[in-house]
Amino acid sequence: MKKLEIIIKAEKLEQLKEILNQRGVHGMNLSNIMGCGNQKGNIRSTRKYDNSSINLIPKIKVETVIPDELSEDVINAVVDQIQTGNFGDGKIFVYDVEDAIRIRTGEHGSDAL
Ligand SMILES: Nc1ncnc2c1ncn2[C@@H]1O[C@H](COP(=O)(O)OP(=O)(O)OP(=O)(O)O)[C@@H](O)[C@H]1O
Ligand SMILES: [Mg+2]
Repeated sequence: MKKLEIIIKAEKLEQLKEILNQRGVHGMNLSNIMGCGNQKGNIRSTRKYDNSSINLIPKIKVETVIPDELSEDVINAVVDQIQTGNFGDGKIFVYDVEDAIRIRTGEHGSDAL
């Protein structure tokens, strides 16, 4: 199993939910976060802001745990459909997940997803 941590702009959330739903991914958590990347929260290029302070801006973080075999397809779809080509399109962090347990039944692993 993989955990995907998908950080995007709020305006892309509906598209992201559709991407996940279309692939049978129904378990997810959403957080409203404050963050920044290489531009330190400034809108233009990286280099110009080398000496600037950090400006955190609101983003959406969606975390979902999915079977290994879905991971590549979900990642490709997010990149294809969410990408605008502008700074701040977001990021996906990918983690290996050791186990998952559905408390109601005691099932383990991807059966528990
Ligand atoms: N290295 C990082 N570690 C943790 N979170 C990050 C990291 N980089 C980016 N993020 C999170 O992802 C959000 C979007 O980052 P962003 O897309 O601006 O990344 P970037 O590396 O600056 O890429 P780009 O140059 O396309 O803007 C940030 O607001 C922050 O919440
Ligand atoms: Mg950035």
